[in-house]
Amino acid sequence: MQETKTIRTTRDILKDVRDQGRIIGFVPTMGALHEGHLELIRTADKECDFVVASIFVNPIQFNNREDLEKYPRTLEEDLRVLEKNHCHLVFIPEVEEMYPGEVSEDYDFGKLEKVMEGKHRPGHFNGVAIVVKKLFDIVEPDKAYFGQKDYQQLLIIQKLVEKENLDVEIIPGSTVREKDGLAMSSRNKRLTQEERQIAPLLYQTLLKAADMVPEKKPGEIIEWARQQISAQPEFSLEYFEIADAGDLLPVKNFINNGNYVICLAAHLGNVRLIDNVIINS
Ligand code: PAF
Repeated sequence: MQETKTIRTTRDILKDVRDQGRIIGFVPTMGALHEGHLELIRTADKECDFVVASIFVNPIQFNNREDLEKYPRTLEEDLRVLEKNHCHLVFIPEVEEMYPGEVSEDYDFGKLEKVMEGKHRPGHFNGVAIVVKKLFDIVEPDKAYFGQKDYQQLLIIQKLVEKENLDVEIIPGSTVREKDGLAMSSRNKRLTQEERQIAPLLYQTLLKAADMVPEKKPGEIIEWARQQISAQPEFSLEYFEIADAGDLLPVKNFINNGNYVICLAAHLGNVRLIDNVIINS
């Protein structure tokens, strides 16, 4: 596996790969890799000839300083597992390499960025869009892989591709879960033992809520779910929403053949967790 730190070297290597007619698959990450990332790498390996990963903790997508500082960094282990899963090249730039000057792009994703993560983490999706656009410009992948755990991010990236007419196919990957249902996330590493034990309540609540669709009304389900989670004082629920899976607008009533997503964000101790379930009726 090749490791690069500069945009120049990465571009040079990938130009040769492209000239050989090989299909490039790309998995952008912020490191602290888990099975969710590795599943994306393995899918890319099956579908493409050359797999690129990036590891870059993107400062401009963090709206909370402590979250950025405490974001887990496990580079050595990340490199080991990437190599083991047949990644061909990993791009690990420093902040100065990605942002040599002032960052001024301001993307407008309309209503999609005004709900849920967009509402609670101002500027987050602009930061994600800026870095993903830059990474796409550097790697020029044929296919890029994003996990559905960050469902809203996936829709934002799809919109970015559409708005900027980018020549890349976005491939969603299913959320990978621990045995007890907790969605894999780099931030799980920051949970205490006690917090880790109760964390699966979030997914259990999502599953039970999904079971109530379409018999109960969205408002009733949300109220029930809020009570379930708030009954555990360790959790502080930020949002629990039932939305249209296409535009993420809140759903007032269920209709036949509707596609929905139930999303939540909650703080458990000092860690912010998000999760969702997708319902195709
Ligand atoms: O999902 C992530 O890890 C990040 O938001 C991404 C897409 C790598 C951009 O920094």
